[in-house]
Amino acid sequence: MLLIKNIGILQTPIGKSSLCGEAQAQNLKLRNASVLIEDGKISAINKDGELPDLSRFGNVKTVDAQNRLVTPGLVDCHTHMVFGGWRHGEIPLKLRGATYLDILRAGGGILDTVRHTREMSEDDLYCKSEGFVREMLAGGVTTVESKSGYGLDLADELKQLRVNKRLNEHTPMDVVSTFLGAHAIPPEYKDRADEYIDYLCDEVLPEVTKHDLAEFCDVFCEDSVFDVAQSKKMLIEAQKRGLRSKIHADEIEAIGGAVLAGEIGAVSAEHLIATNESGMDSMAKGGVTAALLPATSFYLGKDYAKARRMIEKGIPVAIASDFNPGSCPSLNLQFAINLGYLKYHMLPEEILTATTLNAACALDRGQTKGSIEVGKDADLVIWDAPDFEMICYRFGSNQVKTVIKKGEILQWN
Ligand code: NIG
Ligand code: FE
Repeated sequence: MLLIKNIGILQTPIGKSSLCGEAQAQNLKLRNASVLIEDGKISAINKDGELPDLSRFGNVKTVDAQNRLVTPGLVDCHTHMVFGGWRHGEIPLKLRGATYLDILRAGGGILDTVRHTREMSEDDLYCKSEGFVREMLAGGVTTVESKSGYGLDLADELKQLRVNKRLNEHTPMDVVSTFLGAHAIPPEYKDRADEYIDYLCDEVLPEVTKHDLAEFCDVFCEDSVFDVAQSKKMLIEAQKRGLRSKIHADEIEAIGGAVLAGEIGAVSAEHLIATNESGMDSMAKGGVTAALLPATSFYLGKDYAKARRMIEKGIPVAIASDFNPGSCPSLNLQFAINLGYLKYHMLPEEILTATTLNAACALDRGQTKGSIEVGKDADLVIWDAPDFEMICYRFGSNQVKTVIKKGEILQWN
């Protein structure tokens, strides 16, 4: 039992499904509010200085928010956080003009991380990523997606996915696991992408589902990586085995990934820097959430996805970190929020929806996460700020005061 009182502004989107168009900007804002939490769930919300009736309870622990902003815990719906090594050695190459795909084609980039991830033991990978989880929680993220894709063979993909499972079980973070075996073509299958997809579908996917190691399947649908036909095959096979679809689509070239996302009913299409009108139309028609990753645009020096156009077209927009060792070595979702404001020109309310409810829905967690409502999990952030505009405006500092996860005050921050 926990009471959070003296909340200056309680700000939250409302509902269990993703919000699009004008609804994305609709946040409930309650002044001088309080939230009562029982058994890890929100049991009462009051406003205007009213407090719930506590007479039926014995000891109620109270947190005084001292007029600060309270929002739902942030949801980071796109990361690659289980990996060996780092890739700082690529920066001098980039500064001399090599592109992301040049480095990958030359056997570096993702493939460099694959070498290091294969070399690392499951326990060492767990310890490394547990450190990241700790930092994410301190930054206000209470649910995170984690993709595999640095193993690229049966043993090492399963190793990464088992780390996801252990993180979910042994840390306060909710970790949602995504199988991304089709992240790059491993050296053993060089120039044989079709055969690699067959291997994933025939030998790896059945083991992933047999051991219940992922909820989603993702593919890097990109020039020089997997084409639309290969991506479709992988995702449909995974759907048959109960994994819902996500797609790394149109990150660098619009080769048709967003169109495919709409056609196969993907839950989300991610990146979308280069997406064109037909891609957006297909996503709108298919009810696909756009998971946008502005810190990757920043780090690769690329354009920013057309978030306003997507909102206009009725596509629900989520914003995530894309934390990975290559294109975005930052897990700071607050920085992605800053970029959403300055580069996507999204409103603070739209950004809050993008990093809470819409992101939760992109992970199939809309029933329990992503908003402050009676019955939902008590995952909350007390910010060291009076309003969400401040979170969008200040950058580089962690503006979190306190994180509450399933009703517990986290001591990890
Ligand atoms: O989302 N684009 C593909 N995957 C990651 C990058 C992974 C890496 O470079 O290690 C991304 O940007
Ligand atoms: Fe990614």
